Amino acid sequence: MGKKNGKSYRLALSFRPLTQLYDPLIRVFMPEGRFKSALIEEANIRPGDRVLDFGCGTATLSIIAKRGHPDSDVTGVDVDEKVLDIARRKAARQGIGIRIDLYDGGRLPYGDGSFERVVSSLVMHHLAKGQKVKSLREIHRVLKPGGEIHIADFGPPRNPIMSMLSFILSLVEPISDNIKGMIPHHLESSGFVGVKEGRHFNTMFGTISLYSAKKPELG
Ligand SMILES: C[S@@+](CC[C@H](N)C(=O)[O-])C[C@H]1O[C@@H](n2cnc3c(N)ncnc32)[C@H](O)[C@@H]1O
Repeated sequence: MGKKNGKSYRLALSFRPLTQLYDPLIRVFMPEGRFKSALIEEANIRPGDRVLDFGCGTATLSIIAKRGHPDSDVTGVDVDEKVLDIARRKAARQGIGIRIDLYDGGRLPYGDGSFERVVSSLVMHHLAKGQKVKSLREIHRVLKPGGEIHIADFGPPRNPIMSMLSFILSLVEPISDNIKGMIPHHLESSGFVGVKEGRHFNTMFGTISLYSAKKPELG
């Protein structure tokens, strides 16, 4: 666990010494490129869109978004300054112009309606149930009316092998809410409409599902 302004949060791989190893471990053990590229594809980012990567960690998803959509304006936000140091160094090394912000896990540091798209991968399962809805309401606030959220995270297992792998992961990571299929419900309780579950990816830790939803248009 990490702490920011007295609030606790779960580190990228739960333990601080593993933060530096996050990128190599995720690359080897997860089909990271496939599900993150699919998430960005589903987000249908248009030229000029302002895109927020919520819980950006080492900014892999932000970098994929900016590479694929150079005319968009991509910002990553996270609660962990150490992981954001890695993100900043990685983006600079690759010559990718994205903005990276630190916040305290409460109010996002953006005005209402600041973004056309919010994307987020592997973050929801890190948040306690109440925190999920609080964060989704904040995301709803910073999206423009008609803006979209696109999430990749653990979802209900799609076959008996995935059920077994999800069970094993649930012993060390708080994924039970996700594998019960609660993400769509949390999106709806946070004011989103048109909630959809899209593609899914079977991994050695269980099924990763893509979810999308919209902030209602005004009027
Ligand atoms: C498993 S990592 C995923 C990082 C990145 N999105 C990815 O797909 O590789 C989870 C991230 O969520 C961040 N996080 C935890 N609580 C958060 C909160 N309340 N708001 C935003 N990010 C948070 C952690 O600091 C960590 O970087």
